[in-house]
Amino acid sequence: MPDSKKPMRVLAIANQKGGVGKTTTAINLGTALAAVGERVLLIDADPQGNASTGLGVPRQQRRVTLYDVMMGDTPITEAAIQTALPGLDLIASDADLSGVELELGQMPRRSYRLRDAMERLRIAGTYSYVLIDCPPSLNLLTVNAMTASDAVFVPLQCEFFALEGLTQLMRTVDLVRGSLNPSLEIQGVVLTMYDRRNSLSEQVARDVRTHFGEKVYETVIPRNVRVSEAPSFGKPVLIYDLKCAGSQAYLKLAREVVGRERQRRLAAA
Ligand SMILES: Nc1ncnc2c1ncn2[C@@H]1O[C@H](COP(=O)(O)OP(=O)(O)O)[C@@H](O)[C@H]1O
Ligand SMILES: [Mg+2]
Repeated sequence: MPDSKKPMRVLAIANQKGGVGKTTTAINLGTALAAVGERVLLIDADPQGNASTGLGVPRQQRRVTLYDVMMGDTPITEAAIQTALPGLDLIASDADLSGVELELGQMPRRSYRLRDAMERLRIAGTYSYVLIDCPPSLNLLTVNAMTASDAVFVPLQCEFFALEGLTQLMRTVDLVRGSLNPSLEIQGVVLTMYDRRNSLSEQVARDVRTHFGEKVYETVIPRNVRVSEAPSFGKPVLIYDLKCAGSQAYLKLAREVVGRERQRRLAAA
């Protein structure tokens, strides 16, 4: 028996820049949350399907994907597949998903497809966290993810143009809040690929903290080669090498996320 029904928190892992650590964070924060006892569903909302590959689900095994869910052909609860890790399920994606934008065309509720589909998850109460790995653009898939989410979770790579991209992301969040999802929050910002030998990393981290204050997690994800190797083995880094600095950082991040979430609920109660 799973633990008693927990409230479900849906987080869109978003940043329109590619290569900032969205997918890596979706996989490894998801794994770490499951490791600390949460029930996690990862939704791969990128047609590149990197999260699905990184979790060891080969393309030929992706018979039912997010595409089928968004087109209304499969209930979301039937599309979830178990991963090798207990407590972590996946809704896979493949290249079909890139057709969604055109196929939904001017259909009514085109921005609410994922939200509508996820209603069943809220009723079932199986998951305590749903992480949506967004594509690297602010397209209809990302808008669907933000419309379906309670909050946006932003991975930020410690590099020079990091803050510029954030302005555009925040504008999109404001737009979605203004029309499609008034209660959308910013869950937090996590600094990724931090290199302590590089003074630029440190400077960017300082600027981001000045700008976003408490929204920035204390935990910083270091640049770590084990993190980048793990997906080619179809494994989260926590399974590939639990002791490495990257795994330990994602575990620490999961504890911080859960701790802050508890605080937020207490404050809202
Ligand atoms: N902490 C890290 N240390 C080293 N490499 C990383 C780290 N995080 C991500 N990477 C690598 O950086 C690249 C981009 O990361 P990814 O998560 O795919 O970004 P996104 O989903 O935002 O495009 C990948 O090759 C990934 O393995
Ligand atoms: Mg990605």
